[in-house]
Amino acid sequence: MRDTRMKIAPSILAADFTCLGEQVQEAQAAGADMIHIDIMDGRFVPNITMGPLVVEAVARVATIPLDVHLMIVEPGGFLRRFAESGADIISVHVEACAHLHRTVDEIQGLGCRAGVALNPHTPASALGEVLEMASIVNVMTVNPGFGGQAFIQSMTRKIGQLSRMVKQSGEDIEIEVDGGIHRDTIAIANRAGATVAVAGTCIFQHEAGIAAGMAELREAAERG
Ligand code: DX5
Ligand code: ZN
Repeated sequence: MRDTRMKIAPSILAADFTCLGEQVQEAQAAGADMIHIDIMDGRFVPNITMGPLVVEAVARVATIPLDVHLMIVEPGGFLRRFAESGADIISVHVEACAHLHRTVDEIQGLGCRAGVALNPHTPASALGEVLEMASIVNVMTVNPGFGGQAFIQSMTRKIGQLSRMVKQSGEDIEIEVDGGIHRDTIAIANRAGATVAVAGTCIFQHEAGIAAGMAELREAAERG
């Protein structure tokens, strides 16, 4: 069992957008640590979701950090917009940045914490020189673009590699897992070294409601 409490970041991609504000408040009241917001451009991933407007709306009701996950090509041109919309963390994909060091630097320059996300095919070693600049590493445990997909079990090896890299760096860097996280997979990810779990479907589409989804995840993470 890991000695640190795993953070839970509900992903609003799975939320009911006819009452998004209430859903965010319910997730917060149930103990969410951050709100995960998936931005997709239909080019980097085969789906289009939401933009700065939704971040601004969530920021009006949020009392916890906004973890904005940019699944867009050339994110550099949108960093300021998302920072000004209320993002606390801005994560960009290694695969989408020709100049990742500069992009991470720019995120920090805007006063946000920088996250770096890795698609399933991208090795941990791709982080190279930027690992120690990041506040959070997002290990995609599904191929990005949609909620409700199955957890890719082989990603546990990458989580473990990153956990060792982070320990060696001596830096305080969160390892976030993103995709297919539910009561059976959160413990696997936690044991492998993940410290933040993103979950959409199993929280916002839980048959007993958001609080029950959160409680189930929290209990499964602590059971280890
Ligand atoms: C997928 C997104 C994930 C997704 C998680 O591209 O990055 O954050 O919303 O959804 P679930 O928990 O349903 O897999
Ligand atoms: Zn995400």
